[in-house]
Parts: sequence; structure tokens; C-alpha cells
Amino acid sequence: MTTSVNKGDDKNRVVIFDTTLRDGEQCPGASMTFEEKIEVAELLDEMGVDIIEAGFPIASEGDFHSVSEIAKRSKNAVIAGLSRAAPKDIDRCAEAVKHARRPRIHTFLSTSPVHMKWKLQKEPHEVFEMVVAQVTRARNHVDNVEWSAEDGTRTEIDFLCRCVEAAIKAGATTINIPDTVGYTTPSEYAQLFRTVRERVPNSDKAVFSVHCHNDLGMAVANSLAGVRAGARQVECTINGIGERAGNAALEEIVMAIRTRADVFPYATGIDATMLTRASRVVANATSFPVQYNKAIVGRNAFAHESGIHQDGMLKHTQTYEIMTPESVGVSKTSLVMGKHSGRNAFRTKLEELGYKLADNQLEDVFSRFKDLADRKKHVYDEDIEALVDQNLATAHDRIKLVSLTVIAGTRGPQRATMKLDIDGRQAMDEVDGNGPVDATFNAIKAMVPHEATLELYQVHAVTEGTDAQAEVSVRLSAEGRSVTGRGSDPDTLVASAKAYLIALNKLMARGQSIHAQHAAE
Ligand code: KIV
Ligand code: ZN
Repeated sequence: MTTSVNKGDDKNRVVIFDTTLRDGEQCPGASMTFEEKIEVAELLDEMGVDIIEAGFPIASEGDFHSVSEIAKRSKNAVIAGLSRAAPKDIDRCAEAVKHARRPRIHTFLSTSPVHMKWKLQKEPHEVFEMVVAQVTRARNHVDNVEWSAEDGTRTEIDFLCRCVEAAIKAGATTINIPDTVGYTTPSEYAQLFRTVRERVPNSDKAVFSVHCHNDLGMAVANSLAGVRAGARQVECTINGIGERAGNAALEEIVMAIRTRADVFPYATGIDATMLTRASRVVANATSFPVQYNKAIVGRNAFAHESGIHQDGMLKHTQTYEIMTPESVGVSKTSLVMGKHSGRNAFRTKLEELGYKLADNQLEDVFSRFKDLADRKKHVYDEDIEALVDQNLATAHDRIKLVSLTVIAGTRGPQRATMKLDIDGRQAMDEVDGNGPVDATFNAIKAMVPHEATLELYQVHAVTEGTDAQAEVSVRLSAEGRSVTGRGSDPDTLVASAKAYLIALNKLMARGQSIHAQHAAE
């Protein structure tokens, strides 16, 4: 097995290690189904991500299965699995990645005083021995081994250097020093890399890697500072999703390097025109909306609202634009869609928006678009995006909404009459509630009994106007797992029912005890 990605032929080549499917998926509510993970992995591979961290194989059968399937399907990217120091973790990880054309084991261990004392309950000398043992074991399985010093930025420098040296000696080809708790600052992180690289005698034998969390909003700045100090691998996620405040956002790292080549004279292998599509696919799969003002991929990232800015843009785009929308895959669209638009125009519009749909999906979305155009005067790009996103999110669902009628108003009780398609069979019920949303959700519970708790219910308008589509987010949790569903429709209650069902389907896909079968009988 070669480690060509690790070594990097060009000293200015920065390797992009995407951990959307591992660190990203780990954040509450962001979990993805097997099919969604495969879709995300295929897209990452296609867009030029060098290493895809596909999951944490020991965590569950589901994680193992998806890592192993991603490994089998990978075309170019190195496929990494995460493992702790325990031998059974490492062996399981090796088993999961073994079919990849280029497998990697990423094994980690905490090295900071606070983690060693409270989390591991081990003395530093024991941790040191575990580092050697874990890397040695991983190297017995594959040539490409990454070792991470968890909580590296709060680790005593002498101990960190000793562990790094030992890990490289034992065969680690990449050394990652994570800012696990998002605590460091750019100058401090850069100094850390300079010190470790200078003091560790065999540091030239490994690639150094940054991995930053965004608790203080500095994940991207810290990552880039680490690169300037010699790191050549950046661990990041699409849309910056991840534990707590998230990880460094891949799209921000890539575009900072491209746009400020004067400060960051490096190259990545990423096709930046796929960034917007990747952002959408991940937002859909996780049902985590992208904040409007998110750098690079937010809805407003290239919008110019004020008169002064619009005037400047009309005179010369560079007055207010440091990168073009096209460079990240947002095309300047000219097609306005309405109820008279045909299939071809619709297909072209979808392509402009970055979607490539199979013919059967296109047919389905087109007929939904026609329905919407009948109900809504102006169909904006955002409406079409919401429509397609929802279609993609529900493609594998077992429970689907067929119809909903709600009686609401001042004279209660509010009542929902709902018809569901459950595994191809129809079920219907009529249920009261304390308000129309409550009645709607009660109707679902009556037909699909479950114990999941509603953690979040949020509504916002996709566009302006009273006929705007409502976009509803629903987060459900069951047996320690939480998932989010996002549904849209001009009717807020229909959007609410769709969002709830998407979340419920996700829980079912994860094997939670939801009795859809029973309800259909
Ligand atoms: O944040 C972290 O320390 C991690 C490690 C497992 C690399 O995610
Ligand atoms: Zn992390």
C-alpha cells in the first residue's frame, strides 16, 4: 500500500481530510441514514477530497456497515476509519476499511493532563505505552496510519513531543494535533506546530495535520495558521458541522486558500465548483439548515442588498465581490420559472442550481413543481431547492404523508384528519389536539406509535410573501439518538407533518422501536 497522499509530492499541496461522516455526524441531530452517507461519500470523492473519514466502525453495526460500503465504492479518496486505542477497536476499524483501494486507520488517544486524569484515569507513562501499542497494531493492518493526540492543544509540550516522536517511530504516517475543545488561537496553534516540528527529531517522516473545533469561532483561522506553520493536512467538514459549535468548514478553508493565494500559497485538489452542491447535499442529509450568512455557501453569501453595493456591483463586480459565485458552483440564473415552464426548462434550472437528478426523480419533482406553481404566484429558486431537497430526503422513507386536513381556529378542539402511506399500505385517523400542530402530530402518533420526544419545532418562510412556502424543522430524540427532519409546503401544517415524518423515518432507519408495521396492519 502506498502513502502517496500522505507524503505529498509538492510541498505546498494541502491534503483535505473530510470528517463530515464522522465528527460531523457525531453532533446531536445530524445523524444520516446509510443511503445518505453513501451519497455524501460519493460526492466528496468526486469533488476531490483526498481522505474521507467515513465513520467510527466500532461505534455500531450501522457505522461499520457504512464505512465498509464506502470503502468498497471509493474511487480516488483514501478511506479512513476512526478507532480508539483498544486492540478490538483497531481490528474492527481495519476490517471496515480493508476493501478500500487506499485504506487508512486513524487511531487517537488523549494526552492532556485533564483528559488523562479524568477520562482515561491513566498515568502519562501508561498513555505513552498505549500510543506505541496502538500505532504498532494499526501498522500491522495497513501502511497508512494516522495518530491523533486528542486535546493536543491542552497537552504539556514535552509530553506531546515525546508521544509524537514515539508514534512516528511506531509507524504513524500522519500526526494530527487536534484543538478538541476549540480553545486555541491562531498564533498559539501556529507556534505549537513550529515547536513540535522543530523538537521532534523524526518529524520529517510524517505529515502534520490540523483538526479544529469552532467553540470560539476560530476553527478556520486556527487551521490556516497551522498550515502556515507547516501542517499539510486539514481536517474539516462540509458546512462546518460537528461536535458542539462544529469543525472547521471545508468550503471556507478551500476558498480562503484560493482567494488569498498571496497569504496562503498552497493548493488543494478540490473542485470548488462543487462546494455549493456539497453543502446542499449535507444540509439535506442531516436536515441541518445552513445559516443565511454562512461564508461561501450561505444563501446571502453573494447577495447585495444595499443600494450603494448594488450600484458598485453594476459598475464593476470586483467592487464588492472577492470571489465569483460561479467559482463555488452558484450560477447566475436567468430562467424564471412559472406554471407555463416545461420539463426542459425545469431540467436546465435544476442543473443551474447544482442538482443532477435521475429521470424518475426528475419526473416526480417536476410534477410537484407544477402543483406548487398552481398554488403560488412566483416560484423562486429557493422554492425549487426546498422542493428537490425534500424529495431527495424522502426517497427511501417507509412512511409518507398522503393527505391532511386540519380544523383550526378559536373554537376548539382542533382536529387533524390524516392519511399515511406506511410501507405501501394506507392508514387513516382523526385526532384532536391542543392546537393544530399538536393535533397533526397526535395523528401521526396514533398511526405510528412511538416514544420519541419532540426536542425542537421551528418554522420559517422560504421566501417572502403570504403565499411563501413554510420550512419546518423538527428534531426528535429516542434512545439517546436525535435526528432532524425538514419539510416544506405552502401550508405550515403540511410542512410540519412532513418534517415530523422525515425525522421519524430517520429514527426507523436507525432501528429505533417505532411501530409503523403494526399501525399498518
Ligand atoms: O476533536 C478531536 O480531538 C477528534 C479526534 C478524535 C481526532 O475528533
Ligand atoms: Zn473533532
